[in-house]
Amino acid sequence: MTDSKTKIFGIIGHPIRHSLSPVMYNVVFKEKNLNNVYIAFDVDKKNLKRSIEGAKALNFCGLNVTIPHKISVIKYLDRINGEAKLINAVNTIKFICKNNDDENERMAIGYNTDGIGAIKAIEKNLNERTAGKKIFIFGAGGAARAIIFFASINNADVLMYNRTKEKAVLMQKEIKEKLNKEIKVVKKITLKDELKDSDIIINATSLGMFPDVDKSVINENNISCIPKGKVVMDIVYNPIETKFLKFAKKRNCKVIDGVDMLVYQGAEALKIWLNIEVDENLINIMKNVVVKVLKG
Ligand code: ATR
Repeated sequence: MTDSKTKIFGIIGHPIRHSLSPVMYNVVFKEKNLNNVYIAFDVDKKNLKRSIEGAKALNFCGLNVTIPHKISVIKYLDRINGEAKLINAVNTIKFICKNNDDENERMAIGYNTDGIGAIKAIEKNLNERTAGKKIFIFGAGGAARAIIFFASINNADVLMYNRTKEKAVLMQKEIKEKLNKEIKVVKKITLKDELKDSDIIINATSLGMFPDVDKSVINENNISCIPKGKVVMDIVYNPIETKFLKFAKKRNCKVIDGVDMLVYQGAEALKIWLNIEVDENLINIMKNVVVKVLKG
């Protein structure tokens, strides 16, 4: 039950109808007995600025930001946290009081929990740190960018492959300039060898996402490109077991699905908003509700 003290959280994006965030966060609020609510808002590009102003005026406490607003929202925020600034994308906003005298004067601070969410998902599954590991990432879009930046900040040894090589080269330059770190851009011709040499392989492209469930960054004829016994993660969570993860299983790899990344990035947002520890019990509760919805 909501009342006049209920704190409002939500997500803005377009389209937003299929977002799993409301069920994932509301189950936490219920479990923790918090008088909070989380709602999905369909916000198109022309309403983005007004949605942030509206959220401030209505004393919202937090918002997640998803496609297509993760970069464009930055210009409407008052402050950007250091990592989000480096990544140049925001997926979490915290609204705080501008000064203690006036509760209705809010400011919006932007964060990015996508990169840390992916790395946490891997570290919790492996029970070891990713620093020093060779992480191979497919993709150079928004999600890939957050993971590549965070993995580099976290001292992993990053290799990336993207269909459009120019985008990968631009990111390589940017990482060098901003972090003074070297990442390797892999050519198609050396893909198999570089994969073999990696510890963790991540699909950070949208390939394989519903309804295109038959697509994969590695196609069926090249399944031997996936080295045996490695750790393979997919950021796509619908379907939970993508074609890429099916192939990885055939190659006896340890697989981590996109639900884990979704849940761990959500856990990081909860820490930012509520200052709470999200233990494994809560993580499992979040995971279970998401899986239940995905399995219909
Ligand atoms: P997001 O923000 O969700 O990461 P995006 O910015 O549109 O989405 O990026 C999508 C990523 O998936 C890109 O790396 C894209 O490769 P290109 O840069 O070459 O476009 C990759 N991708 C999408 N469709 C692909 C396909 N059919 N084959 C290979 N890569 C694909």
